[in-house]
Amino acid sequence: MALGLQLRRQVLAGLLLCVCVGRWAEAGKVLVVPMDGSPWLSMREVVRELHARGHQAVVVAPEVNMHIKAEDFFTTKTYTVSYIGEKLDSFVKTHVNLVFEKVHWVTLFLKTMASLKKGSLFFERSCEGLLYNKDLIRHLNASSFDVVLTDPVHPCGAVLAKYLSIPAVFFLRQFPCDLDVEGTACPNPFSYVPRLLTMNPDRMTFFQRVKNMLYAPGLKYICQVVYTPYARMASELLQREVSLGEILASGSVWLFRGDPVMDYPRPIMPNMVFIGGINCANRKPLSQVCTAAFVQSVLPGEHNL
Ligand SMILES: *[C@@H]1O[C@H](CO)[C@@H](O)[C@H](O)[C@H]1NC(C)=O
Repeated sequence: MALGLQLRRQVLAGLLLCVCVGRWAEAGKVLVVPMDGSPWLSMREVVRELHARGHQAVVVAPEVNMHIKAEDFFTTKTYTVSYIGEKLDSFVKTHVNLVFEKVHWVTLFLKTMASLKKGSLFFERSCEGLLYNKDLIRHLNASSFDVVLTDPVHPCGAVLAKYLSIPAVFFLRQFPCDLDVEGTACPNPFSYVPRLLTMNPDRMTFFQRVKNMLYAPGLKYICQVVYTPYARMASELLQREVSLGEILASGSVWLFRGDPVMDYPRPIMPNMVFIGGINCANRKPLSQVCTAAFVQSVLPGEHNL
């Protein structure tokens, strides 16, 4: 009887220890390298939830940025960059206005490419500010993070994860040019998966499949313009020739802010997870004007009732 009681007490103590240490052991240190702009607004919700579950998050961001503001559920580490705030502001305004321009599509394409080049220069400068900041890199390296959470569309965080040899979790909407396919080694046949900007449906005719193939080099060109500097920086830091595909291939988990409701079905790999709903985490009620305009657009004539 006494032995039984003692045993039970030991088991209880053991369980208690497991529960306490278990909670400790679970808490991780997350290095967050966000992409500025709207992608951060969704990622911020993930960081909020990580904090609520007892994890510790450090967000690195350029001093001059659009949306990455300090919050009480993460620590911020900023770094200096070689551009100034007004320049970034005026670029964003001009770039957004492009969407509303009524010009020939060739002009629009050329203007968009020029704007993209200019915009990617901001991201490139920002990445240089982070990767070549010796003090910050030393500090981050010494902080022994368990994981890097980053949007690989701005591949600076992916390069940083590789440089510091920390496992990476990618959080993204999509790449314009199948770099995610390269990174996940996922099949992506032209005959089956509609490419970006082609407006092709999921059941394509022969000619739509051909169009699908013809768009690929154009999309690749966009990526070359935007992403070459990151492969260069990675090669410089790792002191060997590295492609962006190789950097992305080291991602452990890919969280896609997409959804079968928004995107066409396609082959996926076991480390690809679809979390499209997170884009709605920051919803606000629509204004009256918005609602009226929407009703009018989907139900013509309805407003006369
Ligand atoms: C990080 O620290 C380790 C151990 O001190 C060192 O071997 C490694 O070179 C450091 N990495 C960087 C990128 O500084």
